[in-house]
Amino acid sequence: MTEKQYGGATGRSLDSAGRKPAAGRGASQQERTERNAPLNKLSSDNNKSDKSDYANFIKAGKIASEVVKYAGTIIKPGVPLLEIAENIETKIISLGAKPAFPVNLSINEIAAHDTPAYNDARIASGLLKVDIGAHIEGYVADVAFSVDLEGNNTNKKLIEASELALQKAIEKINLGVSTNELGIAIESAIKSSKFTPIINLSGHSIEPWHLHSGITIPNHDNSQKKPLDSGIYAIEPFATSGLGSVKDGKPSGIYRVEKEGNVRDALAREVLAFICEEYETLPFCSRWIHKKFGTRGLLALKRIEDAGILHHYPQLIEVSGKPVSQAEHTVLIEKSRKVITTQ
Ligand code: CO
Repeated sequence: MTEKQYGGATGRSLDSAGRKPAAGRGASQQERTERNAPLNKLSSDNNKSDKSDYANFIKAGKIASEVVKYAGTIIKPGVPLLEIAENIETKIISLGAKPAFPVNLSINEIAAHDTPAYNDARIASGLLKVDIGAHIEGYVADVAFSVDLEGNNTNKKLIEASELALQKAIEKINLGVSTNELGIAIESAIKSSKFTPIINLSGHSIEPWHLHSGITIPNHDNSQKKPLDSGIYAIEPFATSGLGSVKDGKPSGIYRVEKEGNVRDALAREVLAFICEEYETLPFCSRWIHKKFGTRGLLALKRIEDAGILHHYPQLIEVSGKPVSQAEHTVLIEKSRKVITTQ
């Protein structure tokens, strides 16, 4: 699941602000310390707990790659998006992980951050991006692919372009490589295919319970020569036949806890406690709340949103209304190895 670059505020400041209060809610100081401990240890290659952390990331990646294979078998033109999303999320759970975020099913000019509502009537069509996250106790794998459901040649070439860009960036990524070198590899692959990268969407570093943990993997040369340390990175190029940036669209029904806050209503309090316990700061959606609490849960969710506790993701729409393709893998890099966890 991608990160949009807003002028000014970075993903990190938003995420860091969100993580602390939510991790604190309902957790003792000791639990919090234990939960946060892996974050500090990830940068050392020789730490024993690193290996188990990485093992969980790899396990989540293996499950995500199985789910991608499964998704490929159920996605066909005319199948309800709701059915696709529910089946993919059920598959993640049946394989022993949990969804790290709601399955994103984004069609044509919607680049990202669209997931079906509980009563969604839309069907699969056009150029469909499928972005899937699986986690095991906060260790996240993030993977995406695109399918052409209308036999359109431009769609097919767009899909090839984002896949080529992903492949080039995966070849390039390593310890000490700077983030803009990956951006250059992605941009030149997409341009060599005669398309344009979406420059205000990017990949991201991942830490436990932290989908976007601060480092941006750009989809173009953004001149930021930040060398990569060992860790987990999601690389996700987007290619378009349009102008190459996205704007905010309508609210997606995808949320995450961003700030601490209070709600008075008893049900809203119960829903908020469930959200903090079940999702922490990972993204969730109104469909999941409806499934657990019914229509009343949606009213409670609105109260929680009105109290300023949640970030509500907007859909991200290509500015010139042209179709967008996406490809994504999660990669682990450390001194001795490079593992594409989701392949
Ligand atoms: Co992602």
